[in-house]
Amino acid sequence: GHHVSSQRVRFQRRTRACRYGIDQFTPNFLSIFDSLVPSREEIAKQEQLLIALGRLINKEWPNSKLYLYGSCANSFGFSNSDVDLCLAIDDKEMSKVDIILKLAEILQAGNLQNIQALTRARVPIVKLMDQDTGLSCDICVNNLLAVVNTKLLRDYAQIDRRLRQLAFIVKHWAKSRRVNETYQGTLSSYAYVIMCIHLLQLRGILPCLQEMDATCNVTVEDNHCAYFDQVDKLKNYGAHNKESVSSLLWAFFHYWAYQHDYMQDVISIRTGRIISKHMKDWTRRVGNDRHLICIEDPFETSHDLGRVVDKFSIKILREEFERAANILQYDANPSVTLFEPYVP
Ligand code: GTP
Ligand code: MG
Repeated sequence: GHHVSSQRVRFQRRTRACRYGIDQFTPNFLSIFDSLVPSREEIAKQEQLLIALGRLINKEWPNSKLYLYGSCANSFGFSNSDVDLCLAIDDKEMSKVDIILKLAEILQAGNLQNIQALTRARVPIVKLMDQDTGLSCDICVNNLLAVVNTKLLRDYAQIDRRLRQLAFIVKHWAKSRRVNETYQGTLSSYAYVIMCIHLLQLRGILPCLQEMDATCNVTVEDNHCAYFDQVDKLKNYGAHNKESVSSLLWAFFHYWAYQHDYMQDVISIRTGRIISKHMKDWTRRVGNDRHLICIEDPFETSHDLGRVVDKFSIKILREEFERAANILQYDANPSVTLFEPYVP
């Protein structure tokens, strides 16, 4: 009798009988989520900065409008993240670089400090640190697609709270393991959020907003962006599915470690399905785009968010997915081990 039961104990410690054993860790994962969410005061400060800068810029350019985009506006931002702003301005006379330089002058004249105009970057920006709020921010020009995709992500987040919880934990994992560095060939935060939306679509927790009757329509640089945005009507959409956030986290990493077909598949939140690389002509390297992991941008459909991944970083990424999947399957303390910093 003793022998058998001690074996059972050992077995349970080493592999969870079924993956629903993972549910016991949900409170730990949720408290990590809570610790990453920005406070109300911080959000108010971001709004305050947006209003102050918008006023200043409007004096010079009455037809311009300043938008918040990226993690501060898509509801997937951590506490203390940089503020991403986009200046929309219709000026046919001036080039983007000229606008950036003039913008830097306007801000300088408005007594803001630490202003840098980065005109040679792929996306030219003005960087600044605001003394009043202590916030750092980047301002780009006419990147309206980013403003629209920010709204799409925010709208998805309002349908089911598990999306925001899952994506925060995935982003935290990616930052801890250093696989959230596009300049090193790993994925952007934006790509990780799209991967989470896709998983929840496949599990019936989220709908596909772009396949529903459009209530929001904009055309940005020839991209027709249309989707159902009355998300307050979809609050119960995923309620029939009772999976916990830790079970979804398990599913996320198992999918990317063991189920995704890297040779054939493209994930697409635009269609709510997996589509084929073949159909998109993403089967081979074109220029610098290698398409080793394919994540379709919801609006700019020719754009693969996995394009930054190369033959070295794909290995790192997949090893990290496997490590995470195995921790969620076997580790006694997954909510700690998962986020152990990567040490080269
Ligand atoms: P953190 O700063 O890491 O918290 O996240 P973030 O949400 O600000 O993400 P990130 O810095 O990756 O991107 C900022 C915003 O730029 C995103 O929310 C998108 O709106 C936009 N963006 C990022 N990458 C792409 C891309 O490859 N294509 C397009 N169209 N937009 C992108
Ligand atoms: Mg950002």
